[in-house]
Amino acid sequence: MKIFIDTAKISEIKEAISWGIVDGVTTNPSLIRKAVESEARDMQLEDYISEILKVAGPDKPVSLEVMSVKAEDMIREAEILYDKFNGIANNVVIKIPINTYVGYYEGLKTIKALSEEGIPVNCTLIMTPEQALLAAKAGARYVSPFAGRIDDYLRTVKLGLKAGVDFQKGDYYPWDGKGVDDNGIRSGSDLVEKTVMILENYDYDTEVIASSIRNARQVREVAMIGVHIATIPFKVLESMLLHPKTEEGIKRFSEDAEKAGYREIFS
Ligand code: E4P
Repeated sequence: MKIFIDTAKISEIKEAISWGIVDGVTTNPSLIRKAVESEARDMQLEDYISEILKVAGPDKPVSLEVMSVKAEDMIREAEILYDKFNGIANNVVIKIPINTYVGYYEGLKTIKALSEEGIPVNCTLIMTPEQALLAAKAGARYVSPFAGRIDDYLRTVKLGLKAGVDFQKGDYYPWDGKGVDDNGIRSGSDLVEKTVMILENYDYDTEVIASSIRNARQVREVAMIGVHIATIPFKVLESMLLHPKTEEGIKRFSEDAEKAGYREIFS
């Protein structure tokens, strides 16, 4: 499974790349806003984005999202982003939402137009496998089903829980598996699994990026499904490494190394 890091913070991108586990980067306007507010207040946004692309380098695709909702505007913005930034490290992918508002089916025509121009698209805000199928047919290079947001939706709509009161963002999904959403989806991981199955049935080149990942267990679930890529926030990557018995073990080994006289070998 390829791992993308789901952040626009250069500090996090650099750190995760140094671990040797990063194959790409995904950003969205909310992540860019957080990054700029925390580590780039004195920088122009264009310079900050250029820096992200340089840090990632040519072999790691970086998704940058448009801001408009109409196809003609999204196409224009995508072309501007691509022209301005792809020359830096040849790694820009444009994120286009599958849809905007009811009755405005702007995502697919945007994906079609950009794919025909050779601009790679990551189709975002995928909440059903059917949306992913249409995005792949229209030419998307990647589709991003949002596992965490589907779990939130099931908890709030089906269980009547209140976000921030009954559960916190990142909690493991307490759904009992008996219910489904209006579209027959049982969980965020189920959305990812059905999306992967459908695209593999028809041999699309489109890769599935399990997105909106909120905890280590979701990463395990989508890896067991065999998803092509998971885009993971830095905090979740950290949590994948932690276990109290690992910490206890390293403490004991360090103490015993001292007692055994290892220090002499290294001095
Ligand atoms: C990545 O491509 C998505 O924009 C991101 O995973 C969304 O995550 P969120 O639902 O935690 O905001």
